[in-house]
Amino acid sequence: PAEYETWAAEVRRLAEERGAVVLAHNYQVPEIQDVAHFTGDSLYLSRVAAQTDAREIVFCGVHFMAETAKILSPDKTVLLPDHAAGCSLADSITAEQLREWKAEHPGAVVVSYVNTTAAVKAETDICCTSSNAADVIRSIPADREILFCPDQFLGAHVKRVTGRENIHVWAGECHVHAGISPADVRAQVAAHPDAEILVHPECGCTTSVLDLVSHGDLPADRTRVLSTGGMVEEAARTTSGQVLVATEIGILHQLRSLNSGTAFIPMNERAACRYMKMITPAKLLHTLRTGEGAIDVDPETATRARRAVEAMVAIGE
Ligand code: 13P
Ligand code: SF4
Repeated sequence: PAEYETWAAEVRRLAEERGAVVLAHNYQVPEIQDVAHFTGDSLYLSRVAAQTDAREIVFCGVHFMAETAKILSPDKTVLLPDHAAGCSLADSITAEQLREWKAEHPGAVVVSYVNTTAAVKAETDICCTSSNAADVIRSIPADREILFCPDQFLGAHVKRVTGRENIHVWAGECHVHAGISPADVRAQVAAHPDAEILVHPECGCTTSVLDLVSHGDLPADRTRVLSTGGMVEEAARTTSGQVLVATEIGILHQLRSLNSGTAFIPMNERAACRYMKMITPAKLLHTLRTGEGAIDVDPETATRARRAVEAMVAIGE
């Protein structure tokens, strides 16, 4: 529509004028996904933030993502259009709680999901995202004890895929993904028996989906546990008529625009992240006009956190 075109042209013009690159997470509203220079999962966006030549990064996502960009590119200005865009998962562990946990397990290696504050990353040995968690765990010698935080469902999943027993998992969760339940899976699979199934490992239903696969109640060749970036890749190549998608519903826009021959159906249509949706087209425009919303990370915290994030970014490069 003409209104979108006018807004998008203004966003691109202001970004160019400021020397800014606009990054958007896969859960952003469709207009923002489409206008951004780069749209993707949290690992991909961290890599772009680390490598960009732009003077400024405008991050359309949540606070921990913008903070991660600032940690990786401390000399650049990182703008977040609404600083109230938080994350219930990042809020499920504080730096103080992590210090206490470490004191109970001296010598353990701390692996934190990127969905954490800079202060928690500063207490971490190596970060991970949903797309590289298993590789990060495999990079740690088998005899070392691991503390994995904060997501219990991703933690259970990496334990399963790596077969490692010496991983302690923090009991945190994302309210959106925890809300995608085994009951949702049963109902949607019954209604769409031939559909392919994509599950984000933060989901409360991940274990039960894989249990159904191992009992032969779901086909192994049509069931995948993937990061949002992995889902985007799968959407581009699938020939399935229907795909059930268990993650935040913002991703459906990406999947549908990549493949119009497949029906992408949410496992739970109420799985929307209100924090991600706090970044609106109007707020993005305001940020580009005013330069307001800069992210600050205390330099000492940033230096300590950077080691953990860079150790992650280096894996798989
Ligand atoms: P990924 O994009 O890394 O899969 O992360 C999902 C998420 O919940 C981010 O908020
Ligand atoms: Fe955080 Fe969950 Fe929202 Fe992702 S979907 S930003 S993990 S609250």
